[in-house]
Amino acid sequence: MNKYLAATVEEINVAGKKIVTVKEMEIGVFYIGGQYYAWRNMCPHAGAPVCKGLINGTTLPTHVYEYEFGCEGQILRCPWHGWEFDLTDGRHLAADSKAKLRGYPTAVEEGLIYIMMA
Ligand code: FES
Repeated sequence: MNKYLAATVEEINVAGKKIVTVKEMEIGVFYIGGQYYAWRNMCPHAGAPVCKGLINGTTLPTHVYEYEFGCEGQILRCPWHGWEFDLTDGRHLAADSKAKLRGYPTAVEEGLIYIMMA
């Protein structure tokens, strides 16, 4: 496994995300709940630059006629068709969907964030 420098901790903690190019692939690095996540900037639906989407929350599963908002700051919405993904595990938030963002492990050393890749 090789490590590729993506950003400084300061950059990501201030901006919340950064899109970098590693091995000719765009990868979005996100800071969510004290952890760093790296996701390929390609939506599994139709290939949109998903990491450029808005980060927000979502409506949670509830009973009929109940509406509850949650996961604030953890949900990435694809800019093309609005699919929502959980930035902590890459899951597409739709019942029975098996779609997922492609992710890479990250490592933090001396204030620098690395993306780990083969
Ligand atoms: S390309 Fe992302 S939702 Fe369609």
